[in-house]
Amino acid sequence: MDELSRRKMLLTGGALGALGVLGAASPAGARSAWNWAASGSVAGSGAGTDPQWVWDDEADQLLGAILRRGDVPKVNKLLRTWTRNDQPLPDGLPEDLRQFMDKARRLPSWADRNKLETAARFNETRGFYLNVLNGIGGGMLSTAIPREARAVYYSKGGADMEDRVAKTSKLGFAVGALDAYRPDGTCVVEAVKTRMVHAAVRNLLPKSPGWTDTGDGQKIPISLADMLVTWHTLPTYAMRKMREWKVPITSAESAAYLHVWQVTAHMLGIRDEYIPANWEAAEAQSKQLLDPVLGPTREGVELTDILLGQLAEQTSPGSVDRPLVNAFARYLVGDRIADWDGIPREPFWEAAIKTAWPPLVAFREGLIKLPLVPRIAWTIDEAARQYILFYLSKGREVHIEIPDTNRPA
Ligand code: HEM
Repeated sequence: MDELSRRKMLLTGGALGALGVLGAASPAGARSAWNWAASGSVAGSGAGTDPQWVWDDEADQLLGAILRRGDVPKVNKLLRTWTRNDQPLPDGLPEDLRQFMDKARRLPSWADRNKLETAARFNETRGFYLNVLNGIGGGMLSTAIPREARAVYYSKGGADMEDRVAKTSKLGFAVGALDAYRPDGTCVVEAVKTRMVHAAVRNLLPKSPGWTDTGDGQKIPISLADMLVTWHTLPTYAMRKMREWKVPITSAESAAYLHVWQVTAHMLGIRDEYIPANWEAAEAQSKQLLDPVLGPTREGVELTDILLGQLAEQTSPGSVDRPLVNAFARYLVGDRIADWDGIPREPFWEAAIKTAWPPLVAFREGLIKLPLVPRIAWTIDEAARQYILFYLSKGREVHIEIPDTNRPA
C-alpha cells in the first residue's frame, strides 16, 4: 500500500474508531440462538448442534500433526503437481495425509452429475455477473465480516493480498469452469487443498497475538458457522443480486447453481446437516448467520483499501480510475456495508453506475437494443472484463498452499 492510501486508511479507520463502531459487531453475542432446522439441509436431519462450536476435527488434527512434524514444505511441493480431479495423489505424501485426502476427494453420494453439468453451463453463460459478484461483491462482503477480515489479515497471506486474491480466485474460477467437477476439472483439487489450508489456519492463528488480541473471544478460527457465513456471501448473495438485476434464470438453472455450491461446501468440510437443501433454507440460514455478524473493523477497512487499490490498478493501469472502482464496489454491496468497509463516496460514478448498470444487464440478456445502453456502461463493462481476465491469468501462476506461519508481526 502506498503512503497516501495508508494514511487514508488510517483516517477512515480512525474516524470509525472515534465513532466507537470498530469492533462493535460481536458475532458470538449479536446473533440469536441457533434454530435453523436441519430438516432444510441436504442431509435432511441432524443433531441440531450450533455450528459455531463445530470445526473440522479430522482435518484440523491431521494438519496440526503435519505442522508439528515440519512436513508442510514437502507436502506443498508435492501438492503442486496434483492439479486434476481424476489424477492419483502424488507419491511421497505422508501416509496419514494420503488416507485423509483419498476420503476427502470423494464427491458426496448426493452429488448429481446432471445438475453439475447444468450448473457448469449456467456458470459459463452467466460468468460475467458471477465473477463480478463472487470476486468483487463477495470480497467486499468478506472484509465486512469481522472474523474473516481478522483471520485473513493476521494469517500468512494477509501480508500479500495480491497473491492471496489470486489463490482465492483459483477456487472461484474452478467452481465456475465448464469442467468444474468433471474428471479433467480442478474443483475437487482446489476444494480439498482449501480445506487443508483452513485446517492449518485453525492450528496457526491461535498463536498470533494480533489475532488473539482483536478477536471476539473465539479460541479457534473458522468454525463451521463462519464457513457458512462466507458461503452465503458467494452463492446466496450472487443469486439474490442476479434476481434483483432481473437476469433471466430458469428454475433448473437456479437449482443447479445451488447444487454446485452444495457440493463445494461438502468438499470444503462443511457437514451435510448444515448445507441448505434449497434457496429458501439458504436465505433463512443467511439471515440467521450472515446478517447479524456484518460490521466494521480496522483490518477490514485496510484490506478493502488494498483490494480496491489493486482492482483500480489492474483494470486501468496508470490511470486514476479508483473512483469508478469505489463506486462499483459500493453499488454491489450497498451503502451500509460500503460505509463499514470505509469505501469513499464517489457522487459522479455512483450516479453513473446506478443509471448504466440495469440497461447493460438488459442488453447483455438480449432484452433491449444497443442504443438504449448509455455509453458509460461500456467503461464499466470493460473494467469488469479486465478484472476477470487479470485474475484468470494470475490464477494460472499460483497454487493454493498450506501455510506454516502467520503474518509476520
Ligand atoms: C484460505 C476459500 C471461508 C479464512 C482460503 C483459500 C481459499 C478460501 C480458496 C486458499 C487461498 C489462499 O491460500 O490464500 C474459502 C471459501 C470459504 C472460506 C470458499 C467459505 C465457503 C473462510 C472463513 C475464514 C477464512 C470463514 C475465516 C473466518 C481463510 C484464511 C486463509 C484462507 C485465513 C489462509 C490464508 C493464508 O494462507 O494465509 N480460503 N474460505 N476462510 N481462508 Fe478461506
